[in-house]
Amino acid sequence: MGLPYFKIVGGNRLKGSVRVSGAKNAALPIMAASLLCEGEVVLHDLPQVADVKSLAELLTKLGLQVERRPDGALSLTVRDEMNCKAEYDIVRKMRASICVLGPLLAKRGRAEVSMPGGCAIGDRPVDLHIRAMKKLGADVELVSGDLVARAKRLRGAEMFLGGAFGSTVLGTANAMMAAVFAEGVTVIEMAACEPEVVDLANFLNACGASITGQGTPRIVIEGVRELKGCEYRIIPDRIEAGTFMVAAAITNSELKLDNCRLDHLMAFIDRLAAIGVQVERAENGAVVSSARRLEPAEVTTQPFPGFPTDLQAQTMALLCLADGNSIITEKIFPDRFLHVAELNRMGARLRKEGPTVIVEGVKRLIGAPVMASDLRASAALVLAGLAARGLTVVNRVYHLDRGYERLEEKLRSLGADIERCEGGEEE
Ligand code: EPU
Repeated sequence: MGLPYFKIVGGNRLKGSVRVSGAKNAALPIMAASLLCEGEVVLHDLPQVADVKSLAELLTKLGLQVERRPDGALSLTVRDEMNCKAEYDIVRKMRASICVLGPLLAKRGRAEVSMPGGCAIGDRPVDLHIRAMKKLGADVELVSGDLVARAKRLRGAEMFLGGAFGSTVLGTANAMMAAVFAEGVTVIEMAACEPEVVDLANFLNACGASITGQGTPRIVIEGVRELKGCEYRIIPDRIEAGTFMVAAAITNSELKLDNCRLDHLMAFIDRLAAIGVQVERAENGAVVSSARRLEPAEVTTQPFPGFPTDLQAQTMALLCLADGNSIITEKIFPDRFLHVAELNRMGARLRKEGPTVIVEGVKRLIGAPVMASDLRASAALVLAGLAARGLTVVNRVYHLDRGYERLEEKLRSLGADIERCEGGEEE
């Protein structure tokens, strides 16, 4: 049958407004946190993306009843607490499955999660997740490729969760979820400050947890006895919003984004301003407009509130068309550059030197068949295709479907010439 691919004919100006979906990276840990709750959890604004579907399947295997309601919300209720194992077939597909580790351990006293391997964006160690569980008093061992964690009752503890690349988003999420029922107080130092971590803490508090300091590097959790399900709305996806901002800029267009939080995108908007792209606040969103001439810029990815690694590839696509040389340095995932060779196929002039890419601006990109690798690299190729002269075919867009909700439909509604086709090349 073949794989889905996109055909894009570049050059169209975009116009109109688009609604940003709920954040995938907030949705996943919050869905996993429903393992901790008594009674029904109802989540609004979950994006309809493949990763959410995969996690819903895993949670069903772990004894939850998971249902889409007619209004689009997802309802999750724990029915059976026997199974404590996240199998390799799902973890392999989606690394974020690791976020069931903390809740299973806290609620069921045992968690078995297949060790996630590396992925297209590089090594993805989980040593900080393990450190957190051990600090709380769990026994953790590796048995035939599975992480097996056990504890009768976790105890609050102080822990430092920084590694060679700074804080960890899902590691912080796991530590917070594991600590909610721990006896006493847990302090996480060098906690991740990402808005998705704040959203998880706010959700847990809405269920009855006692967490303070979320959004700062020091999170304090006082153990409670029980969490009750609640109804909760997921924050807007800042990475999807940023992707549409680049779509406006790269096509020299003006777009209105609805359901968009600019306070989650300060570092990105600062770099856009340096490039010559204006982002102005509008009711519940933003208006993005771009100068005809794009300035080159220096961009370095960092943990929040720094420039997000998840917008590095898209920003590189934009800087390919700047008038001069730019420098992009990746400080979170130093190998996250699979898009470089593909963008070069479209006429970009990119040279990788270790964790840095030197971008020599060109006058135009030229459509070509290219291959999506990871989620954000795929988005970068789509954006480049919107600006390129002629036809771009982006193969393997299943990577994109993991984290963008109907991207091609949204872009088409704004005037892009983009079409999803079936029958693309197999792996
Ligand atoms: N790290 C360690 N040890 C650990 C965990 C992480 O050394 O135990 C390192 C990583 O190798 C990396 C850095 O710490 O160098 C940060 O990784 P982090 O743990 O924060 O990444 P993550 O939690 O696994 C989430 C997002 C990613 C996003 C990163 C960084 C989800 C589901 N995933 O991953 O999103 O790139 O934070 O912001 O929230 C994406 O959406 O495309 C995506 C990859």
